Amino acid sequence: MILITGGMGYIGTHLVLELMSGGEDVVILDNLCNSSRSTLQRIVRVAGKAPAFIEGDVRHRKTLDHLFKRYPIDAVIHCAGLKAVGESVREPLRYYDTNLGGTLTLCQAMAGAGVFTLVFSSSATVYDDCAIMPINERCRTGHPSSPYGQSKLMAENVMKSMAEADPRWSVALLRYFNPIGAHDSGQVGEMPALMPNNLLPYLLQVASGQRPSLSVFGSDYQTPDGTGIRDYIHVMDLAEGHIKALQALRCAQGLHIWNLGTGLGHSVLEVVKAFERVSGVAVPLAFKPRRAGDIAQCWADPVKASKELGWRAHRSLDCMLDDAWRWQMSYRRDAAEVLLPVITGTPSLTTSAGSLSI
Ligand code: NAD
Ligand code: WQD
Repeated sequence: MILITGGMGYIGTHLVLELMSGGEDVVILDNLCNSSRSTLQRIVRVAGKAPAFIEGDVRHRKTLDHLFKRYPIDAVIHCAGLKAVGESVREPLRYYDTNLGGTLTLCQAMAGAGVFTLVFSSSATVYDDCAIMPINERCRTGHPSSPYGQSKLMAENVMKSMAEADPRWSVALLRYFNPIGAHDSGQVGEMPALMPNNLLPYLLQVASGQRPSLSVFGSDYQTPDGTGIRDYIHVMDLAEGHIKALQALRCAQGLHIWNLGTGLGHSVLEVVKAFERVSGVAVPLAFKPRRAGDIAQCWADPVKASKELGWRAHRSLDCMLDDAWRWQMSYRRDAAEVLLPVITGTPSLTTSAGSLSI
């Protein structure tokens, strides 16, 4: 059985669906600080059954000990964390507490329970700003520009020391680039907070009429069209990368680092044009100055993951945008029906198999 911390969040839900579709038993631990219990209903709609779910905090050792005693867990995928870069600048202690403290407590509980297989949600943000693209796993780290990035790098370093000290550990640090898209059922996707910061959630809200225009942050970068370039990866390709990493860990000890990206860069304007083509919806733009802390370009060298895991992202940018748009439409349609019980506090799915609050 696999424990997925943060399994009710954007990446976690896609991972849960991918694991369940492969016949794996899954238990989710999530404190719902950035997700909703209604997500369980969406998982059930797609998977046909509910995963076990514990509402609890990854920083809480007793909860973890209880979880490892109650379920026959043999591996953990650790997605629980806080991820808003700007917020991490304003609230650094919260970020270190959750992203670093949560990882420490989880690793201690795992060792206590004799579980030594761990996949960690890391980020390309741990890499230093680098003039040469693509970024491979040997590129320099050490100077992330935000407490968020620092907290991910510090957590990585904790796991590195831990794996060096004790050969029983098998650990994968997966450095994600820019995950976007949604499950192709249109039932599961990213549910951003009220004001999204990332490009795609904002673009989707503009396209669906919730916001007047998309700000394009910087059009004077040294890139072909002057806008920032990133490596957008479909969240289901990302989920498949986790499954491959888990399989690799089951026969390889030690610590392994893999980039999860496509190896392709797309500019902001390319993303907008592709979205307009795929959806048939025009996106009004407002050109603005560069956003503080942004870099001009960033894309992955995914060769190490391809060679060692036999994994490659294969979904196109059009596919990412199409799936994200269908999700946005379905989410908007269902919002009243699905979110009403949450808003009014009516419990939902509290009797689902394995569901429990601690
Ligand atoms: P998300 O916010 O949608 O999901 C994170 C989940 O973790 C949420 O459901 C939240 O409620 C839960 N959580 C937070 N703190 C917790 C705690 N203390 N105990 C238990 N649960 C807790 O984010 P996501 O996009 O799914 O990201 C998942 C992971 O991937 C994060 O660690 C994030 O830093 C990392 N990551 C995300 C991106 C991205 O662009 N989405 C990129 C690189 C890395
Ligand atoms: C992409 C491009 C913006 C919004 C962040 C985190 C990173 C990772 C993924 C967690 C940039 C431009 C954006 C908008 C715009 N998360 N943009 N208008 O900054 O590459 O990465 O999310 O680990 O750590 O830093 O992603 O989607 O915010 O921006 O023009 O309204 O879109 O300037 O060029 P980013 P993003």
